[in-house]
Amino acid sequence: MKIAIIGAGNLGQSIANGLLQDTLVVSLYITKRNVSEISALKKHENVVVTSDNIEAVKNSELLIFAVQPAHFEGVLNEIKPYITDRHTVISTITGYSIAKIEAQLSVKQAIIRAMPNTAIAVGKSMTCICSNVSAEKRVDVAQKIFNSLGHSLLIPESQMQAATVVCASGIAFWMRLIRATTQAAIQLGFDAKEAQQLAMFTSEGAANLLIQSGKHPEEEIDRVTTPKGCTIEGLNEMEHKGLSSSLIQGMVASFNKINTIKTDQL
Ligand SMILES: NC(=O)c1ccc[n+]([C@@H]2O[C@H](COP(=O)([O-])OP(=O)(O)OC[C@H]3O[C@@H](n4cnc5c(N)ncnc54)[C@H](OP(=O)(O)O)[C@@H]3O)[C@@H](O)[C@H]2O)c1
Repeated sequence: MKIAIIGAGNLGQSIANGLLQDTLVVSLYITKRNVSEISALKKHENVVVTSDNIEAVKNSELLIFAVQPAHFEGVLNEIKPYITDRHTVISTITGYSIAKIEAQLSVKQAIIRAMPNTAIAVGKSMTCICSNVSAEKRVDVAQKIFNSLGHSLLIPESQMQAATVVCASGIAFWMRLIRATTQAAIQLGFDAKEAQQLAMFTSEGAANLLIQSGKHPEEEIDRVTTPKGCTIEGLNEMEHKGLSSSLIQGMVASFNKINTIKTDQL
């Protein structure tokens, strides 16, 4: 596949690093205005690092856009004359609707919105995808790419804001949980490095138990909570202090916020 990443910042570089682990990529154009920051990517033989978006578009079929929302309109106007039927546009831009992209390009253009997270750099992104009618037959290509970079789920566009909170912001939420459990482990006597290892690999193990068994979290909790034991004592104390409630309220607050932000402010 001939792929271009337009806007190689945090997310664009994460996608590039993930794609470079994969054999799907025939050529990969990576663009940003100041390319000095990503010159290290040039060492890969099928990679072209450039500030020329038009060159990237002309030489690619799948265009992944990862610029800030305020820059997207300008970039679309710049490349519009060079977009053809063979191009599939994949936008990762938060809050930028398919209808808005269609208005700038065409309803006939194959347009896909993808909401990955930065774990894409290590092949573990949970990516939500939706498309316009013209891209319905190409969604499987996008899913193939994002499945090779983690896991993907096809959703209606109306759920894209919620997916942004759960999956993209979700990385920050999970980092805080891992940090908090690390702090607790230090207080319980482990040094900082050991404490982080315990927190990271325990959370990885918990997620994998559910991924591989398909079970509900409470079933796994039942297996480790002895009546009158230390686990239920700790869990109930956390719930008295509002663990589940504060997570739910935080995510709802994040969702309410995203719905009030105009695209050019995101
Ligand atoms: N970060 C996340 O976890 C995440 C998750 C899901 C979706 N998103 C979405 O992904 C987009 C990028 O987020 P980010 O955090 O990666 O932002 P970022 O770090 O600011 O990256 C944006 C990049 O776009 C480049 N750029 C700006 N104008 C350009 C142009 N005309 N041509 C080519 N490149 C240009 C910038 O580099 P130069 O200034 O050097 O050009 C910059 O490195 C946003 O729209 C965001 O909503 C982000």
